[in-house]
Amino acid sequence: MRLNDDERAMLDGRDGAAAQAAMDLLVRYGDALGAERLVDTNNVCGTVGATMPFLRDYALKESGMDSVFSEFSLDTPNKLDIPKVKVFSTHLQQGLDPENAHLQGIDEQVVKVYRMGEEYKAKLGIQPMNTCAPYLTGNVPVLGEHCAWMESSAVIYINAVLGARTNAEGRESTGAAMLTGKIPYWGLHLEENRAGTHLIELDIEIKTVQDWGLLGYYVGEAVQDQIPVIDGLRGAANLAKLKHFGAAAASSGGVEMYHIVGQTPEARTREEALRGRKPVEVIRYGAAERRLAYERVNTTARESKVDFVMLGCPHYSIEQIWEVCELLEGRKVGANSALWIFTARATRQLADQAGYTERLKNAGAVLMTDTCSAIGRVMPKGARVVALDSAKQAHYLPAIMGVEAWFGTTAECVEAAVTGKWQGGLTA
Ligand code: F3S
Repeated sequence: MRLNDDERAMLDGRDGAAAQAAMDLLVRYGDALGAERLVDTNNVCGTVGATMPFLRDYALKESGMDSVFSEFSLDTPNKLDIPKVKVFSTHLQQGLDPENAHLQGIDEQVVKVYRMGEEYKAKLGIQPMNTCAPYLTGNVPVLGEHCAWMESSAVIYINAVLGARTNAEGRESTGAAMLTGKIPYWGLHLEENRAGTHLIELDIEIKTVQDWGLLGYYVGEAVQDQIPVIDGLRGAANLAKLKHFGAAAASSGGVEMYHIVGQTPEARTREEALRGRKPVEVIRYGAAERRLAYERVNTTARESKVDFVMLGCPHYSIEQIWEVCELLEGRKVGANSALWIFTARATRQLADQAGYTERLKNAGAVLMTDTCSAIGRVMPKGARVVALDSAKQAHYLPAIMGVEAWFGTTAECVEAAVTGKWQGGLTA
């Protein structure tokens, strides 16, 4: 890889041993990818946390978070002094909600290490957003901005909806980018790699959040890691719908970028979305495909008795929290079920101010932050049958936690939380 003078100086140790190790990692990574150079970034979104058990043990045994950063972000066994981050860096979701650790079955010692991690992030200057949806809490990159982000649902959102540019990075490359402000210039950073490959022609209207989840789930399976172009949309989507669509497409396939003709910023026309090329495949999406996607997301569900309802994947926006409050108005979560809703801390503050947290609590629900059931492996003890309004969570949670999962609308999920019974079904 070609390095400029600034990058060469970092590699030679001008900015200290940690920046040197970071640059060394980026050079090895870029070489392996076939990148010709690095690109500047002032927007990194990654994780330096230590909430996974082996990382926690490492932090405790190897005396501190610098050891964790050195070994697991910079790939060096030497404990380096990690300096403050060089560029704007935000932290993703983690493994637990420290405020609700007791409900999540997490002991005090683990919370202590979590708090240690929080102090560490603050010391390094990493913004503690603790969410998989940082674009909801103030990290909103703009069209053409080069970023270094992890988390598949966030990567696809900022690429497709905002027109920012990132590949799906990892803990190591984002850690190195935080200390250098550099990331390999390859993949979706390059204009020519952002062209749509598959054309998806809609034969039906895509109206609800659930419709968008099903479309995303179907399209992800069909195109895998390619770039779909959705054409034929009537009307406009909104944030919650696109958040849901991207998360689903990134989990059933490995989609990191898509276009919606007339909706997303790099797809004013079908030709622009395809960059004048012919699609490798044209796929029609109608009622039969929607039904098929619904059946596939619901493959694990058998029992209608629901003991846990989890909402907030990706983390809920304030609008979605408000919607749940309205759905729960005058009702209570059933005695044999639980309703947990996951969001970012900043959004929870808004919910506190609006009175939503209290309303949820009074209805027997809990608003949690920082994590989710799949990432933190946190569920009420003994939960066996779960209801979800997220195709992504329905894809992962049964595999991770061995539960049965129903996927439906938010209203159906709230109904299940109240009655303890799944009564959902696909409506036309
Ligand atoms: Fe976020 Fe967890 Fe879903 S981290 S995207 S809520 S799997």
